[in-house]
Amino acid sequence: MVDAGDGRLPIRQAGVALDGRSVHLRPAEQGDAPAFAALLTDPTIHAIWQSPDPESESHELAHQATDVAVWAIEVNGEVVGLIQAHEETDPRYRHAGIDIVLASRAQDRGYGSDAVRTVARWLIEDRGHHRLTIDPAASNERAIRAYGRVGFRPVGLMRNYEGDLDGSWHDGLLMDLVADQLVDG
Ligand SMILES: CC(C)(COP(=O)(O)OP(=O)(O)OC[C@H]1O[C@@H](n2cnc3c(N)ncnc32)[C@H](O)[C@@H]1OP(=O)(O)O)[C@@H](O)C(=O)NCCC(=O)NCCS
Repeated sequence: MVDAGDGRLPIRQAGVALDGRSVHLRPAEQGDAPAFAALLTDPTIHAIWQSPDPESESHELAHQATDVAVWAIEVNGEVVGLIQAHEETDPRYRHAGIDIVLASRAQDRGYGSDAVRTVARWLIEDRGHHRLTIDPAASNERAIRAYGRVGFRPVGLMRNYEGDLDGSWHDGLLMDLVADQLVDG
């Protein structure tokens, strides 16, 4: 199936295995559902990515059931996280966005910036993007720092951007990266 307009495959069919400095990114497959469910229920992840239904969401992610590319993040053969990329395909606004979560045991070791840099490079070099976005919670200083190391810069505060399970809203920080500002790791 060819994407309308630009002849590229839709992103969820285009994902390939990618290697960063320490991480191996493998396109998600059915068997990843239990590992993804464990991630979505990891307390440090659930505090950020408040999945209302981790079981069905992990199934969707593992089956690449929505219009995003999903990779399992592996370190030494073990799944320690997941990363996904989505695209805006309208030619005038064409860009891609990235989301990532790492299990508690894998945080703060440079794997997050390594994985984001690796997917960013693929989006720029293979998918032809000139601009990427990422949108951490405004209070997520570690994420903001990690994405800054890759070359993402703050654009602005998105007030009441994301809903929490208790019905409240919190601010998000829109960050973007233009292709020639990707920072090599
Ligand atoms: C956010 C996340 C992807 C970052 O990946 P990571 O591998 O932990 O981050 P890295 O080790 O690459 O970089 C973290 C940086 O933040 C710094 N940092 C850590 N805790 C911090 C804090 N509380 N405040 C500010 N900086 C902090 C680290 O020192 C490091 O910077 P440095 O290398 O310049 O010293 C990962 O921690 C994660 O998945 N967390 C839980 C879920 C989440 O927040 N997902 C992101 C949703 S947008």
